[in-house]
Amino acid sequence: MKQQTLAIHACARSAGEHERFVPSAPPLETAASFHYRSAADLTAVANGEINGFVYQRYGNPSADALQRQIAALDRASSALACSSGMAAMHIGLLTALRDRPKTILAANVLFGQTFQLLQLMEQQGFVARFADPCDLAEFEASLDKTETGCILLETVSNPLLRVPQIDEIAKIAAKRGVPVVVDATFAPPVMNRPLESGATVVVHSVTKYLAGHADVLGGMVACGDAEADYMQELGRHFGANLGPFQCFLTARGIKTLPMRMEEHCRNAQIVARVLEQHPNVGAVHYPGLASHPDRAVAESLFDQDTQGATMFGGMVSFEVLGADQAQTFRFMDVLRLVVRTLSLGDVHSLVAHPATTTHRNIGEKRRQKLGIPDNLVRFSVGIEDPDDIVADVLQALESVA
Ligand SMILES: Cc1ncc(COP(=O)(O)O)c(C=O)c1O
Repeated sequence: MKQQTLAIHACARSAGEHERFVPSAPPLETAASFHYRSAADLTAVANGEINGFVYQRYGNPSADALQRQIAALDRASSALACSSGMAAMHIGLLTALRDRPKTILAANVLFGQTFQLLQLMEQQGFVARFADPCDLAEFEASLDKTETGCILLETVSNPLLRVPQIDEIAKIAAKRGVPVVVDATFAPPVMNRPLESGATVVVHSVTKYLAGHADVLGGMVACGDAEADYMQELGRHFGANLGPFQCFLTARGIKTLPMRMEEHCRNAQIVARVLEQHPNVGAVHYPGLASHPDRAVAESLFDQDTQGATMFGGMVSFEVLGADQAQTFRFMDVLRLVVRTLSLGDVHSLVAHPATTTHRNIGEKRRQKLGIPDNLVRFSVGIEDPDDIVADVLQALESVA
């Protein structure tokens, strides 16, 4: 089945042998534990000998529905719903690192908190090394410098929107038996499925496009058969599960993900083109622009929408020309429709300032090296009417001229 069909149907419970109906919505089952008439049945379910639920942390109908839905969309054998994208990232990395050397070779531009998670993991004996995944030769050479436990990439990097060749990196990694973990938060599975490109584990912050309505904090890990049991075991024992209500909201949100994502991508392309033409705007980063260094890679990796246009994502980053931090803040503050926030990927248009928020902790020197200046604005383009979004951006740019 196609993604649009799976998004709607994959969370449905199949009718049991004696049932005449199935509910139209995913279950919202809040029970912390499940009561049994027979101790033998309870033991058999607890031991995995027969299907069923015993205790919310070990599994529950709401998580089950969402996990089926994501596994179907990601073409994964198994998925695990976690309490945040960061919890999913931690479990995803540990899943890939099972019985492996302790070194993680990560992309040199990552979501700021992922850098911090790697720093914390270094305190536990892991080692994080960094290389540019958009330079295949450099990345391959780095892989051979030490024994690598796993590779960590983002499908589209935050905030500069670079697009590494996941399929080529997966081939290089497979030759050496190194698992690849991909954070697909910026490119949900209706745009791209890293497991199909040879990645081992995929991680999502469902807080963003998947849930889509700014009312859920959650994460998801998905993987193939070989890693599934260990990932589920980590989920059961770490206890970083996503609560039933958040599972319900996410599964509900995903039903409209394909249409939402098409609108995000269409609007982002319009906004990026307008920004690129504007005299008060410097560099514009959007993989759908001809000027973007990874345009061809993105075109080869990302799906087309129902009109046949490549889906380049809903995120655009740009520099307010010649602005310092105060002037950049002023541009953000005079936006009327577009709101200032830390998140991304919901139906509203949102702006964030990476240098003082998501990437504050990596330090000035590293920010400059990576190309995250004080005048960089990250724009999560929403699904409002594009005329209204553009009008708001133009009035804000005029006011800082
Ligand atoms: C690329 C990326 N990965 C992971 C996360 C973490 O997700 P969460 O905030 O749901 O923990 C974020 C959050 O912004 C993100 O942008």
